[in-house]
Amino acid sequence: MAVVWRLLELALVLSVCLTPALSVDRSNFKTCDQSSFCRRQRKLETGPSQYRALLGSAKLTADKLEIQLINDKTKVSLLLEVFGLHGNMTRIKINELKPLKPRYEVPDVLVGTPTPENLQVSGQDDNTLELSLGGGVNKLLVTGSPFRLDILSGQDLVLSVNSRGLLYFEHLRARKDTLSAKVSSAVGNMWHKVKNLFSSDSEKTDAASESDSEIPGEEEVVKEEENKKEEEDEPGMWEETFKTHTDSKPNGPSSLGLDFSLPGFEHVYGIPEHADNLRLRTTESTDPYRLYNLDVFQYELYNTMALYGAVPLLLAHNIHRTLGIFWLNAAETWVDISSNTAGKTLFGTMLQYMQGGGETPQTDVHWMSESGIIDVFLLLGPSPSDVFKQYASLTGTQALPPYFSLGYHQCRWNYNDEEDVRSVDAGFDEHDIPYDFIWLDIEHADGKRYFTWDANKFPTPRNMLDGLKEKRRKMVAIVDPHIKIDGGYRIHSEIRSRNYYVKTKDGSDYEGWCWPGSAAYPDFTNPDMRAWWSSMFSYDHYEGSTENLFVWNDMNEPSVFNGPEVTMHKDAVHWGEWEHRDVHNIYGLYVHQATAEGLIHRSGGKERPFVLTRAFFAGSQRYGAVWTGDNAAEWGHLKISIPMCLSLGLVGISFCGADVGGFFKNPEPELLLRWYQAGAYQPFFRAHAHLDTPRREPWLHGETNTDLIRTVLRERYTLLPYWYTLFYNAHRDAEPVMRPLWVEFPTDVSIFAMDDQYMLGSALLVHPVTEANAREVEIYLPGAGEVWYDVRSYQSYKAPQKFYLPVTISSIPVYQRGGSIIPRKDRPRRSSECMQTDPFTLYVALDLQGEAQGELYLDDGHSFNYQQNEFLYRQFNYSHGQLTSSSLDLHGKFETPAWLERVVIIGASKPNTISLRLSDGTETQLEFEYDSQTSVLTVRKPGVNISSDFTMSLR
Ligand SMILES: *[C@@H]1O[C@H](CO)[C@@H](O)[C@H](O)[C@H]1NC(C)=O
Ligand SMILES: *[C@@H]1O[C@H](CO)[C@@H](O)[C@H](O)[C@H]1NC(C)=O
Ligand SMILES: *[C@@H]1O[C@H](CO)[C@@H](O)[C@H](O)[C@H]1NC(C)=O
Repeated sequence: MAVVWRLLELALVLSVCLTPALSVDRSNFKTCDQSSFCRRQRKLETGPSQYRALLGSAKLTADKLEIQLINDKTKVSLLLEVFGLHGNMTRIKINELKPLKPRYEVPDVLVGTPTPENLQVSGQDDNTLELSLGGGVNKLLVTGSPFRLDILSGQDLVLSVNSRGLLYFEHLRARKDTLSAKVSSAVGNMWHKVKNLFSSDSEKTDAASESDSEIPGEEEVVKEEENKKEEEDEPGMWEETFKTHTDSKPNGPSSLGLDFSLPGFEHVYGIPEHADNLRLRTTESTDPYRLYNLDVFQYELYNTMALYGAVPLLLAHNIHRTLGIFWLNAAETWVDISSNTAGKTLFGTMLQYMQGGGETPQTDVHWMSESGIIDVFLLLGPSPSDVFKQYASLTGTQALPPYFSLGYHQCRWNYNDEEDVRSVDAGFDEHDIPYDFIWLDIEHADGKRYFTWDANKFPTPRNMLDGLKEKRRKMVAIVDPHIKIDGGYRIHSEIRSRNYYVKTKDGSDYEGWCWPGSAAYPDFTNPDMRAWWSSMFSYDHYEGSTENLFVWNDMNEPSVFNGPEVTMHKDAVHWGEWEHRDVHNIYGLYVHQATAEGLIHRSGGKERPFVLTRAFFAGSQRYGAVWTGDNAAEWGHLKISIPMCLSLGLVGISFCGADVGGFFKNPEPELLLRWYQAGAYQPFFRAHAHLDTPRREPWLHGETNTDLIRTVLRERYTLLPYWYTLFYNAHRDAEPVMRPLWVEFPTDVSIFAMDDQYMLGSALLVHPVTEANAREVEIYLPGAGEVWYDVRSYQSYKAPQKFYLPVTISSIPVYQRGGSIIPRKDRPRRSSECMQTDPFTLYVALDLQGEAQGELYLDDGHSFNYQQNEFLYRQFNYSHGQLTSSSLDLHGKFETPAWLERVVIIGASKPNTISLRLSDGTETQLEFEYDSQTSVLTVRKPGVNISSDFTMSLR
């Protein structure tokens, strides 16, 4: 819940009921041209690089190559480090050889030191060094002049670095209007003289002595300064003003950039968060994609503007290979994408030749960041799941969420008081609608002092929470990272006395406006601050909290209503004397991390946390869920929720959702219903609404809509065992829960840009209806030689096939892939916890060979005991008329009374008898029904415990 403070005040003054015609005020946010480093870098022309790699300086150790790079214009030296990493990865770091002061290197994102792999020189000539990577599968060519890197896999050029010559690195320098600047300018002048002495030879002299020159005359200093001005000092380098805010830039220019060329790739993805299609657009005629965590009020759709979170991972895919570029930098970053420049690079031409002519498509990517260093990981795949695993080996996988957090979440700004909570909770029971969580927004706290309760509205929070607990339900309360400045507020006084607030450039506590009015911002980059924050979630510190209270971190970009671009000043100072400029994009991750660790801590390390965050960075998947922020009740926002979550899934953040119904504005009943139908098939499923909107609990839209919403919610709950298994696979093997079609069908070019339908795991294809008054939906079922089944009618479709499906208001097009087995729990209940010991039904969808496989993961749903092997991981395999259930992981030993109540075999023929044999040899005959219309065989009451091995035979 965001909002520009002034607008809110205005709205309050005018009328609470008036909904202003809102859309983003673009002028609040910088364009590339208004961000001086982006402007400087975007001006660079492609061509031979100004940098030369001094191959003679190369130092090779077992896993690392070091080479100096020199800029022939400025003579500043950089150090290039190339690391071979296990599993088809290469890391490239570029920093100044001798920076004036250390430059920021992003900590805490990598889960460990990546496993090195041997690098060996496999060839060399005057201008090239050839290294073999990964036991010779891949090769790296380092070209000296002009400097570039090329990675080859076998004979194929996979990726080139700096082939367009856009390597750019602003070295730290002394300010010229200071005394030290005068000195450095004098040194520069001496260098000038030396250069003249050596005349034309000087170009090749990399470390000429400066000592034997005479002190320059005043006249020459002036002249030199003029030269430098021409060469270096552009507006915005030492100070930059945007609207009313001036960035003092004490370190001057410090930006860096690098280009990557991907021959043979036409489709690139990732670098969330943007309200845009799944497939990234070329940015030749727009601004580059921007990564800078911002609280954007009423964001616009289909553009490259920055939003709340940033993950600097880009993926490229073609029918032969998937690869990734992970740019580990937390400063403001812009990414330009262009295409069809084949032939511009030497190897592009070669490739074209090798593949027998024709235009070889190519995508070029140009990354630009404001500070830090160049630290980039090249993930070479080759398959989509290889890239997911490679990235996860660096930044970790999705945390395994508590089972109940996969249920439905009921939120609004605000549920007003305890009575309101009680009556909404009762409403779900009255209307027989399942839900797991009710949420409290900022109004629940005493004057927006987080960790407290408004004493009038919430006098007995523990009673309220116990009431929910009796229903086996939970609550989420918001805890934001802006802290009300109020001497009587314990959280504030403690942070201040411990000196944990972010500082201004002048050393005082940084203050800004946010929900509580004047607020300060805890420095979450400080590990001591994070540990202290975590300790605040213990039951004795957070009064009124209980074990069924969970947390939501909003506004953690951080949002500062009166700050530049509604965020923190870049010259604010963090722990370790780093500027906010350096750490901006990782701040929100730290808030999320400290909060999630707080919930773990309060349980003595036993219970899994649930924390939702709005801001995020690479690695945020380790701490919980993410939502797409303050969307609006518009059809376009419903539609874009799909690509937004798909993009997050591709970069490791599977637990994603959008506010169901839309946060701003009031959805008409049809839009709300369609949003429930879509949201039920997205990983994080929460309805949310703005303070100014009318109430919209599921039963307030007429009986028909109530029935339809109930149906959708029940459908969500029946699939929870499948959802949970998908999350286990995300946690264990880095498989995205919600995935683009191309991840499952990597050679079908026709789906590479498709983002109105997607896969849930490998078994379900979902195409939500996202248009008003829809009469039909165009469905495409991929997979040559495959078959799909409509999950409701069981109608079968041979693939590949494109068709128009007639839809009604109750339609949610979902197809089960032939060859898959999905576990469900079909008995409707009040909440997911009430379903814990309920029996399972297996939905076996046969492929054209009459086979199917599936999995079920199961544990207690809430603790970390699964790490001590208290889980079940079952495999179901249907082949040659036999369904077998066996353990996929023999270490697992979780006990459950849950049993198998039904097996539904879709695409089956009618057997004569069905028998069930257990591992102890006992055999029983089972009852069944066969529907010849749909070819569906329903086997009644196998009755076997879900943890048991069995074989069911059809004869
Ligand atoms: C590395 O790449 C090769 C082929 O290029 C592939 O066979 C292998 O599975 C990959 N290894 C990993 C760990 O991704
Ligand atoms: C399923 O069972 C068949 C027949 O026993 C076997 O050939 C096949 O490998 C099994 N599939 C899996 C995925 O275990
Ligand atoms: C099977 O279910 C029963 C209850 O019906 C339970 O007591 C038992 O522990 C379960 N068996 C296993 C192996 O988990």
